[in-house]
Amino acid sequence: MVREIDMYRELDMDPMLCQQIDRLKNDACLPTDELRQLLAVCDQPAVRAYLAEQARTVQKTIFGQTVYMRGLIEFTNYCQNDCHYCGIRKSNRNVSRYRLTNDEILDCCAAGHRKGFRTFVLQGGEDPFYTDERLLRLIKQIKQNWPDCALTLSVGEKPFSSYAAYRRAGADRYLLRHETADPGHYSALHPANLTAAKRQRCLADLKRLGYQTGCGFMVGSPGQTREHLLSDLLFMKRFQPEMAGIGPFLPHHDTPYKNQPAGSFELTLALISILRLLLPNLLLSATTALGTIHPEGREQGILAGANVVMPNLSPEPVRDQYCLYDNKLNSGAESGEGLSDLAGRLAGIGYKLVVARGDYMDHRSTAFCNPAGQPLTGKSGEHMPA
Ligand code: 5AD
Repeated sequence: MVREIDMYRELDMDPMLCQQIDRLKNDACLPTDELRQLLAVCDQPAVRAYLAEQARTVQKTIFGQTVYMRGLIEFTNYCQNDCHYCGIRKSNRNVSRYRLTNDEILDCCAAGHRKGFRTFVLQGGEDPFYTDERLLRLIKQIKQNWPDCALTLSVGEKPFSSYAAYRRAGADRYLLRHETADPGHYSALHPANLTAAKRQRCLADLKRLGYQTGCGFMVGSPGQTREHLLSDLLFMKRFQPEMAGIGPFLPHHDTPYKNQPAGSFELTLALISILRLLLPNLLLSATTALGTIHPEGREQGILAGANVVMPNLSPEPVRDQYCLYDNKLNSGAESGEGLSDLAGRLAGIGYKLVVARGDYMDHRSTAFCNPAGQPLTGKSGEHMPA
């Protein structure tokens, strides 16, 4: 207690605000009005620092100072959607489109497995070429070849029956950002055929089917207000995702939003901390967008409470074509080849990259940690080779 009092004196922070954040940390919830108040000031340096400190404490209790890695395979940049913010939107004629073959995808997994990845994320635009039949074949092959790995899909909105079939074939997790929980803001960011209701129904379907389900949103998308962000936090608290990714909006030069300002790095970090406190067990990514907007974005994301990184395993020649926003990182510490660079950077801030599937754990479990909070070695948390 004395420490916390010293802390806000030092940071020149309103003691009431500290108490609010402490309550958020202890109860993993806060009355809506107080959350609104917190959101209004959360990107101020002192508040952000206090939030991050509390978020790190929670993260350390649950996960130790470990970070999970997921191998991202961006297997098609064809997309039937025309989201106003996205560089691979259908109407962008300047994208050179590609699809990886089954064998190329399996090669990415094989290379990733050798490097220590135990989760593969198949991510793509909504590409009708990948029928259920093709996807099911791929899912089965991956699960058969690497039974020790988790498979995450991120291929957009599908009928319940397709999600069910992928799940039966062995898919474990699904990422589908809700983008914004506010229906009006959702409509402003998307063409008329896409709605917040449809998106949220897909997320509910995924959860019902037993996927570890991930949602998320952009910070600072054009027209976004703090009230929209409040809706996002409330939606996520209700939905209880197992995974989440948030990152700043970044403009792409071939989209209607080319002249819009990027989202705030600091606000994104503050929201990462708030999410860690609201959903303590959340598998929360330090996203590529965060790494793109700031040279130490990934590390700052981890220090704000994130515990997942997703380096790129796609073949080098196609990487630049999966360009959702300008300057999107895909090399160095953001790539499979740069894993030792990434591990070194994380070690530099006191965190260990682990070889593990990194599944969602239901409780404030200590199964991953001994009483000192150190990660265990062995199956569930083997240390990365130095
Ligand atoms: N800036 C930041 N994030 C973006 N995404 C798409 N376009 C952009 C952009 N311009 C995010 C969306 C999508 C995810 C794959 O990438 O939230 O769900």
